Amino acid sequence: MNGSSAALTPKRDVTPQSSFASRLEGKVAIITGGASGIGESTVRLFVQNGAKVVVADVQDKLGQSLCNELGAKGTVSYVHCDVTSDEDVKNAVDFAIAKYGKLDIMYNNAGIPGKIYPSVLDYNNEDFKRVLDINVYGAFLGAKHAARVMIPVKRGVILFTASIASTCCGESPHAYTASKHAVVGLMKNLCVELGQYGIRVNAISPCGMATPLLNNTIGLEKSTVQEVLCAAAVLKGAVPEVEDVAEAALYLSGDEAKYVSGLNLMVDGGYSTTNPSFKMVLKSLMS
Ligand SMILES: NC(=O)c1ccc[n+]([C@@H]2O[C@H](COP(=O)([O-])OP(=O)(O)OC[C@H]3O[C@@H](n4cnc5c(N)ncnc54)[C@H](O)[C@@H]3O)[C@@H](O)[C@H]2O)c1
Repeated sequence: MNGSSAALTPKRDVTPQSSFASRLEGKVAIITGGASGIGESTVRLFVQNGAKVVVADVQDKLGQSLCNELGAKGTVSYVHCDVTSDEDVKNAVDFAIAKYGKLDIMYNNAGIPGKIYPSVLDYNNEDFKRVLDINVYGAFLGAKHAARVMIPVKRGVILFTASIASTCCGESPHAYTASKHAVVGLMKNLCVELGQYGIRVNAISPCGMATPLLNNTIGLEKSTVQEVLCAAAVLKGAVPEVEDVAEAALYLSGDEAKYVSGLNLMVDGGYSTTNPSFKMVLKSLMS
């Protein structure tokens, strides 16, 4: 394994002075699960690009401290929002409208992996339902309340974080894989319905990323998780990072993607294009 994998990716210039600045100037976004991991990174990038952002999460302390850190210009606010609560999601959308006057981007990113079980026979039914509740029903509520305010103005962007588990099966728990397939189905259905109102709907499917979600699920340190990810990767010479997903969200949210809708954008370094099992077995037979 390559122990220095983290050193492979050069540090990006994401300061407001960089060429990426202001691609979302004047836009208002809600990011669910914005207090940590992919969501947090996207909050940072959106703010750097001129957006006003509402961080919607259940980790109040973390979300609030992120807003305190970034919010000198009053451009980022925290709302407590459990995405499985219709009332909470409604409040988050209404908060964005009351505070910033509109909602341009709804990024339904909050998600959980659920527990890992050795077999479907061991699977805890309540755990299965909980994963579907947050990952699918929560995403549905986000899209529904966003559509409520986007349809009348005939514009908007709805994004989802799906996962590589939306195309690659057998590596994640059943509930998680099922939920991410469902998220992509929901995204495509909404794309068809909401296209008539000029609303674009897309998903992003990252490969494994060393966030609390993955690190805690497999019980390994961030650096070890990154080493595992790099060793398993198709694309070498780069470490998959939450910023890569944030950049995809920035692209899909901005005017650069004005004719992109119904896309499940894989941010996986080509991992989902192949299945290395045959080659690995052959290699081990020959060595
Ligand atoms: N990390 C990965 O390997 C990976 C890969 C592919 C897809 N994803 C997806 O990316 C998304 C973000 O995950 P992450 O890796 O950044 O994990 P993370 O744990 O760092 O962040 C997830 C955030 O969602 C929030 N959340 C959980 N339940 C919630 C609820 N009911 N209401 C509101 N917020 C809630 C958490 O508090 C947390 O802040 C998830 O949808 C996840 O499935 C992650």
